[in-house]
Amino acid sequence: AKARHFKWEISNMFWSPDCEEKVVIGINGQFPGPTIRARAGDTIHVELKNALHTEGVVIHWHGIRQIGTPWADGTASISQCPINPGESFTYRFTVDKAGTFFYHGHFGMQRAAGLYGSLIVDVAEGEEEPFKYDGELNLLLSDWYHEAVYAQAAGLERKDDHFQWVGEPQTVLINGRGQFGCTLGDVGDFQREIQRDAKAAVCEDEKKTNCSMILRSECGPFCRDTQCGPVVFDVQPGKTYRLRIASTTSLSALNVQVEGHDVTVVEADGNLVEPFDVSNLDIYSGESYSVLLKTLKEGESPYWISVGVIGREPKTLPALAVLRYVAGSTAQSSSSSLPTTAPPETPTWNDVERSRDFAKKLKARAGAEKPMPTNRRIDMLNIQDMVDGQIKWAINHVSLELPATPYLGAYLYNIQDQVFNTTVLPDTFKSGYDIDKPPQEQPEGVPTNATVVSSQVYTFKHGEVVDVVLQNADMRKDDTSESHPWHLHGHDFWVLGYGKGAYSVDATDPPLNVEDPPLRNTVVLFPHGWTAIRFVADNPGVWAFHCHIEPHLHMGMGVVLAEGMEDGKKLEELRKKVPKEAMMCGKTADDAALAARPI
Ligand code: C2O
Ligand code: CU
Repeated sequence: AKARHFKWEISNMFWSPDCEEKVVIGINGQFPGPTIRARAGDTIHVELKNALHTEGVVIHWHGIRQIGTPWADGTASISQCPINPGESFTYRFTVDKAGTFFYHGHFGMQRAAGLYGSLIVDVAEGEEEPFKYDGELNLLLSDWYHEAVYAQAAGLERKDDHFQWVGEPQTVLINGRGQFGCTLGDVGDFQREIQRDAKAAVCEDEKKTNCSMILRSECGPFCRDTQCGPVVFDVQPGKTYRLRIASTTSLSALNVQVEGHDVTVVEADGNLVEPFDVSNLDIYSGESYSVLLKTLKEGESPYWISVGVIGREPKTLPALAVLRYVAGSTAQSSSSSLPTTAPPETPTWNDVERSRDFAKKLKARAGAEKPMPTNRRIDMLNIQDMVDGQIKWAINHVSLELPATPYLGAYLYNIQDQVFNTTVLPDTFKSGYDIDKPPQEQPEGVPTNATVVSSQVYTFKHGEVVDVVLQNADMRKDDTSESHPWHLHGHDFWVLGYGKGAYSVDATDPPLNVEDPPLRNTVVLFPHGWTAIRFVADNPGVWAFHCHIEPHLHMGMGVVLAEGMEDGKKLEELRKKVPKEAMMCGKTADDAALAARPI
């Protein structure tokens, strides 16, 4: 195992992710940030300098469990203090297993502002994957808004009738590139309409002289080298490629299709799954997959890779990339044109049945360890409610508000009650809650408008095996329910099952899968349904569990899990190892300084 060192500087910079120049948060002058590539067992050292002038910053290593290093999880208010403008902080952690991951900002809405990049971990030296491939293609998917995240956040916080939803993104990006209001392929009337609505078809080529390839479409030529130039993947015929696909969207659920090719799913969120073939793949924010793609024997160049919006009525054009066959090792310079075919159509956006079927196809790879029996079940009711004139998302009627001092520091220095509300969260919600009715129309006996904004946590004894049943319900608007991709920090969990309507122990349909459930770190809660997961609380620390939709998290859709914090010995160990800079803010500033002083 190796130590891999990186030096990053984070700053605001002008960039044109979709051919419109905006400000993004970049790393070392790049957007998306640099890709981290390592081997399982390696230690990553990222020395991060915050060159943003007006706000703190943290980076979360999404999917990395941070075993024994909870302070390196990069969640503001939970695992560490934000790094102040002008200051530096070094993240040190082990990437303990192979897989497709990514990293992103985890303070305010910095992820939506463009602070993200890929993190890819190969198997340890001398080890092999249980499948073979000749090459790799990496797709980091995101969505992009033209409105600054500060305006988005302020809009979500407005009171009463002034609430401003962020709306649908302007553009879907592949590896940070997209074309606003413009499609490279002819994709029918619906999309022409979106294109017209987007008015300014601003897709103008920057006409660089060193342009390696010009792609022509209805709204102008695109140079492959410009910031918004389409992604072109070169492949050779008759080979197998591993496509790594990860989604760090702010809002959108996506569906990925490669024209003319089926793919075999082999990995989900850094865990091997029993291989299965699909013609297209759903991916929600926070998820990642690896799929194997066999190129045709005699590929006819080129093919589309299409990434369209599902789950919400799309108002955003699909993103398109090009899969270009090259014979031998020489790229055919003549093949500078786009595919002439129509890109594959995105499945119907509201076909929840289809999406649930896809999710259910994921099973642990044969031979994987089975889950152990559970000790505890927590039901988490997901509702949208009004609190003091603000629209909030809440779990069991509690909407998450993060404290100024990190929870982890509060536990390490034993000052919990100075930092957050220490009344533990309820393991269940009021029985009789009608999930088919909005919160303001609940039957008698169920309190309406009972939601509070609070910093409370769930606590777990070390080693507890916990089931969580996420229960969806109607939103404030009757008969509407949305999907929410829930992401757990610090762990993988088994996905035991999905069902429709209200969860009930004796009538789970189908029964929970404890035979071959897949391990993941993100799972979808479908509209009007439930999702059951199981995890082992064996990683002492304080961890977030939240909806990965950025505006939903901003509106309180998450919970905080304090794990193994009752164990004095473990706490003492962590206290000795925590870098003091991680806790030099708020109520823990003095303790951290004191602890760092040599005796
Ligand atoms: Cu990728 Cu807490 O998030
Ligand atoms: Cu959500």
